[in-house]
Amino acid sequence: MADSTEIRLKLLLVSRRKEILDSLQSLLRRYPGLTLDRKLVVNGHTDPLHEVTDLPDVLVLHLGETWRAELEGLAGRSADRRPPLIVIGSTQDAAAMRLAMQAGARDLLPVPLVEADLIAALRRIDRDRQTANPDRKRTTTVFINAKGGCGGTFLACNAAHALASRFRKRVVLVDLDLQFGAIPVYFDLFPGRGLLQALQNVDELDETALEGYLARHQSGLSVLGQGAQDTLPLGGVSLDAVKKLMMLLEQSHDHILIDLPRHLNALACHVIERADHIALVVQQSVTVLRDAGRLTTCLRRDLAVSADRIATVVNRYDRRSAISAEDIRSTLGCGEPILVPNDYRNVEESITTGQPLMSHGRAAAVNKAIQGLAKQLDGDAFEERRGLLARAFSRVAKPKSP
Ligand SMILES: Nc1ncnc2c1ncn2[C@@H]1O[C@H](COP(=O)(O)OP(=O)(O)O)[C@@H](O)[C@H]1O
Ligand SMILES: [Mg+2]
Repeated sequence: MADSTEIRLKLLLVSRRKEILDSLQSLLRRYPGLTLDRKLVVNGHTDPLHEVTDLPDVLVLHLGETWRAELEGLAGRSADRRPPLIVIGSTQDAAAMRLAMQAGARDLLPVPLVEADLIAALRRIDRDRQTANPDRKRTTTVFINAKGGCGGTFLACNAAHALASRFRKRVVLVDLDLQFGAIPVYFDLFPGRGLLQALQNVDELDETALEGYLARHQSGLSVLGQGAQDTLPLGGVSLDAVKKLMMLLEQSHDHILIDLPRHLNALACHVIERADHIALVVQQSVTVLRDAGRLTTCLRRDLAVSADRIATVVNRYDRRSAISAEDIRSTLGCGEPILVPNDYRNVEESITTGQPLMSHGRAAAVNKAIQGLAKQLDGDAFEERRGLLARAFSRVAKPKSP
């Protein structure tokens, strides 16, 4: 595969010719970080962005016979309603070139299209977006369940997928269940190399070499979990190796999500101390809440985790349950918990088919709740919406003293 892994953009491909859209799409589909939408212009409106509400990161426009009206349509938009533009078409025509410039074209690519030129143009735009926002927030979030089966793994997988696909962030999901973790399976991925080999070879790794150990989902999400060549680590793993690996992952990702088994050993404590957020996943059950209470106390008192870093997530929430969200809040001494509804059918189908909820049960309430959770995890969203933050992770801001 071409060197494509770093480009993370959402593209809208627009043309009046279906075969052009087809060939662009099949070419670009090989670049997993790209999210593709297409629009076949049939007649009527000449503004290529007409009725496009969710603006893409880049508009790739193949110029048709009505190129003048198309470019004028774009040029007439205000700059904030006009994404960076790549124009594919004749570059001989001086008038077309001038209008394309006025419409904000970053590149004019002649036909027949050279793949490498298109990719280089996209890479430039992606790089500019990164450098325009050098202080973007990077976050590490640990998902930990209060008891096995609460849904920690399921929520970590789907929140990570939402961040990568909907919020178009560079996201890696790390499965720290070293013995029996199966996160790649949730995404229908079967990597050869995985986390344990990465840890063994960490001293030789840099950002590029690390890519060889990450399984890549079509959404662009990277998964670092068990690989087929990994063997059960009966003797545990080196904490130093974990520290080095975490540092490498932080360099090259906006978000690191970690699925952490509840066993609190040295590795788990290190990961928790390093994390910005801890999502504590519980259910409406007396025994779960008992364990959740012990875990919260341990996090707060022994690991000195401040209250605003812990979010309580009630999974499989049922408002008819004898245990209410308010009971959970007062029992754990946390703020208002985040509620994820119970949905046996969609969740089972999603897991069985290896398709995250966003692809499988998009309209389901459980998906919407997880999208909300992902939004709160997004560093930029935190910066932009302090009000939302106050209602979200800071909802958990006033636990009882341990
Ligand atoms: N919101 C939900 N609604 C219905 N079933 C769920 C939900 N979340 C998780 N499950 C079910 O619970 C099972 C256990 O979830 P899992 O993520 O493996 O738990 P954990 O990692 O906490 O042990 C999943 O296989 C799935 O069938
Ligand atoms: Mg699990």
